[in-house]
Amino acid sequence: MPISGMSTAAPFPIDVADFWRDPYPALARMRREAPIAFVPQLNATLLTRRDDIFVSEKRIDVFSSHQPAGLMNRLMGQNMMRKDGAAHMAERSIFFPAVSPKAVRAHWRDAFQAHADRILDGLEGAGRADLLAAFALPLSGECLKSVTGLTNICFSEMDAWSQAMIEGIANYTGDAAAEARCHAATAGIDAAIDDMLPVVRKTPDHSLLSVMIHGGMPEQNVRHNIKLTISGGQNEPRKAIAGTVWALLTHPEQCALVRDRKAGWLQVFEEFARWISPIGMSSRRIAKPASVSGVDFAPEDRVFLMFGSANRDEAHFVEPERFDVMRDTAKSIAFGAGPHFCAGAAASRAMIADVALPSVFARLKGLRLDSEPVRIGGWAFRGLLNLPVAWDA
Ligand code: HEM
Repeated sequence: MPISGMSTAAPFPIDVADFWRDPYPALARMRREAPIAFVPQLNATLLTRRDDIFVSEKRIDVFSSHQPAGLMNRLMGQNMMRKDGAAHMAERSIFFPAVSPKAVRAHWRDAFQAHADRILDGLEGAGRADLLAAFALPLSGECLKSVTGLTNICFSEMDAWSQAMIEGIANYTGDAAAEARCHAATAGIDAAIDDMLPVVRKTPDHSLLSVMIHGGMPEQNVRHNIKLTISGGQNEPRKAIAGTVWALLTHPEQCALVRDRKAGWLQVFEEFARWISPIGMSSRRIAKPASVSGVDFAPEDRVFLMFGSANRDEAHFVEPERFDVMRDTAKSIAFGAGPHFCAGAAASRAMIADVALPSVFARLKGLRLDSEPVRIGGWAFRGLLNLPVAWDA
């Protein structure tokens, strides 16, 4: 019998700093030796194989998203990502029409293109920049301002608030400064919502704020879901834009396939999101006793679904550590694999594959890496920290 809070999974100790620098070697060993492993340093049981995650994530009676004691609930309020079943669907069905593939085609794609054009107009003549800070960050921020309806803030606030919330909800060591930064971010978002609510109440638009309020979601829940959207909707596209550009610049033969129209931009983005998944993990709480692949779980066990590992599972991907724009990415679960499948997937695909990548490569001629080294980090959220590049101004 497992003890509550600790599954019978084989223990697999890690060096947390190494895991942050590069989790992939340890994850590959887990997939081989202990595919469901208890990692004492994270006090969590990790599911590392793609099929275990794909099946388990849908068993919401066991793998619950309802985590009342979790940091996300405490610091950001209980949003739809921390609800199960009917409670989750009640909010998701009001939220989703604002970011559905149809809404993205009708309202957002052109708005995203206008943001990209404006940012590149200012950047084109410079000849060199940190493309993460000068393009990926402002583009994600401007797009997210449009989608959320918080057009009264600046993109740098959007980015700083998103970062502060992500650090707040990953603050397992209880660092007081990180918690204070997270509180400041949520207070800033609430103030921005206070300003915009009367505007969208009077003049409805296509934004999430407007669609949720007019869809009848209680105001408190609207606030929680706007915070959720900011925590996930800024950092991930920012990292994916910078990361995909870097992947192409460091793999000229793959870049040539795109130039020769053998691979499309969407394929390139999907392969990047498989190769270095921006969201490497999603957490769950065990709600009732259950067994998966011979491991017994007890109520209150903390489980991490390791999407980043699933997307390098040798059972589905040949030479998974290779960035290969020609591969079939249908089995990738970079956007999740259950009822919480990323609500912003269509918006992300439009922002990154339809707008950001083609615009950057069309406008910044002769794009190449500059001298400073590129830094990459993270395992729960992974991505580039900088992208110094030069081009022919
Ligand atoms: C490259 C970009 C992105 C990636 C890789 C990504 C990935 C993910 C993943 C892995 C999840 C969790 C799925 C699960 O637990 O099954 C998720 C959830 C979510 N994402 Fe994204 N995301 C991205 C961008 C966005 C954007 C731009 C938005 C908003 C405009 C967004 C909004 C959401 C929301 C609201 C949820 C929770 C859905 C629910 O609980 O039903 N994401 N995303």
